[in-house]
Amino acid sequence: MEDLRVNIGSLELANPVMTASGTFGYAREFESLMDLRRLGAVIVKGISLHPRDGNPPPRIAETACGMLNAIGLQNVGVDRFIREKMPYLATLGVPVIVNILGDSLEEYAEITARLAGVPGVAGIEVNISCPNVAKGGVAFGTDPQMAAAATTAVKARAAVPVMVKLSPNVTDITVIARAVEDAGADSVSLINTLIGMAIDLRRRRPALANICGGLSGPAIKPVALRMVYQVAAAVKIPVIGIGGIASATDALEFLLAGATAVQIGTANFVNPAVSEEVVDGIAAYLRAEQLPSVQQLIGGLLVD
Ligand SMILES: Cc1cc2nc3c(=O)[nH]c(=O)nc-3n(C[C@H](O)[C@H](O)[C@H](O)COP(=O)(O)O)c2cc1C
Repeated sequence: MEDLRVNIGSLELANPVMTASGTFGYAREFESLMDLRRLGAVIVKGISLHPRDGNPPPRIAETACGMLNAIGLQNVGVDRFIREKMPYLATLGVPVIVNILGDSLEEYAEITARLAGVPGVAGIEVNISCPNVAKGGVAFGTDPQMAAAATTAVKARAAVPVMVKLSPNVTDITVIARAVEDAGADSVSLINTLIGMAIDLRRRRPALANICGGLSGPAIKPVALRMVYQVAAAVKIPVIGIGGIASATDALEFLLAGATAVQIGTANFVNPAVSEEVVDGIAAYLRAEQLPSVQQLIGGLLVD
């Protein structure tokens, strides 16, 4: 029997396959479509201090080998999340990682404080791709000092390991990764969506009401792999790979590039049971290669 266990700092996962924030709701939506207990971990939709309605429609557009979304971080807010969503999530028997977002350092700190001690919360993933309203809308994730400050604010109040989710919309992602590592992040996850745009020629209008949106899906995989490879070489903390993963082959490539675990996002919309299939596919690969443990693959890329 292959050993699929991986450790993200102090957090042990039964396997390296997680669901990516915003593509798996609050997990209950998928309970009739797959066996949720087979997941390495569940990462829930981004939670803010107050409920958000998100952007006006259209908020999604299909593109070549991917999709654009401008959901605008619609969510029920941290208090309703704790009251209405966490009790179910806590019964799943797999680690639940709560993705959080804020418009200011105070918001990041307050959400973290409210999540401290809530039963079932195994980790926090900090989305730093949102604009800091207090600082004129510059995204936390594009400035190393602001990224570090958000990490510090969360770490100071977190009762569980903290994973910081990096934005790819920067010149050198390793600078941000090192900044959040120095600020105490227990791990980094990457990548979030790449900013893109689509045009509806018939209407001569942007395909999204928000004009720009986040590109995800197979189209972004090579960019994500490159960034995971670079970040894994630049930091000592575990790196979680995200971006266009739709098969066990994709996931295994990220592990070789240096990821300790992976997250599956857009592929859930195409095949809601994809995560389970990726877990089975990783086990089958280990069997075929006669490798006893998935850990032997992590960072095992051969470069001549
Ligand atoms: C519809 C949609 C909603 C998303 N919402 C969030 C979110 O709330 N927080 C977050 O950190 N990332 C969010 N993401 C980004 C994904 O978690 C992931 O980083 C990205 O889509 C790349 O992975 P993929 O190519 O496997 O989808 C969202 C992505 C999509 C497509």
